[in-house]
Amino acid sequence: MRRVTALFLFTGLLCVGKASYADTEKLQTMLQRNNCTACHMIDKRKYGPKLNEIAAKYANEEGAVDKLAKKIKAGGSGVWGEDIMPPQPQVSDADARTLAEYILALK
Ligand code: HEC
Repeated sequence: MRRVTALFLFTGLLCVGKASYADTEKLQTMLQRNNCTACHMIDKRKYGPKLNEIAAKYANEEGAVDKLAKKIKAGGSGVWGEDIMPPQPQVSDADARTLAEYILALK
């Protein structure tokens, strides 16, 4: 019985691992398509803040998806320093929301 439970847990872990891997891949594709990769990488500092640091900063903040979706389109500065993120009008509302969701799902 215990062996069955262990197997069950192991399979569960494998599925979870796969799901988050797939999301990171999808995020990466969207970042490239929307030209975010010119300034952002997931785990390395480029011109803009690391995306996993952004996820950590807003981990417990309510309304973070809306807030970041707006900022992704409008740009801005002053949250992470003096560098300016220019507006990204090429990003659709739907893509801005999905990008915000995926970025916030990073750990
Ligand atoms: C020209 C460089 C540049 C590009 C292109 C760019 N960013 Fe940024 N991004 C920045 C900078 C600089 C900041 C920090 C702004 C600040 O301190 O308020 C930032 C901040 C952010 C934040 C955090 C906002 C906050 O208020 O904490 C998110 C999320 C983000 N960018 C997502 C994106 C996405 C998604 C794209 C692609 C559609 C993108 N960025 C394209 C430079 C860029």
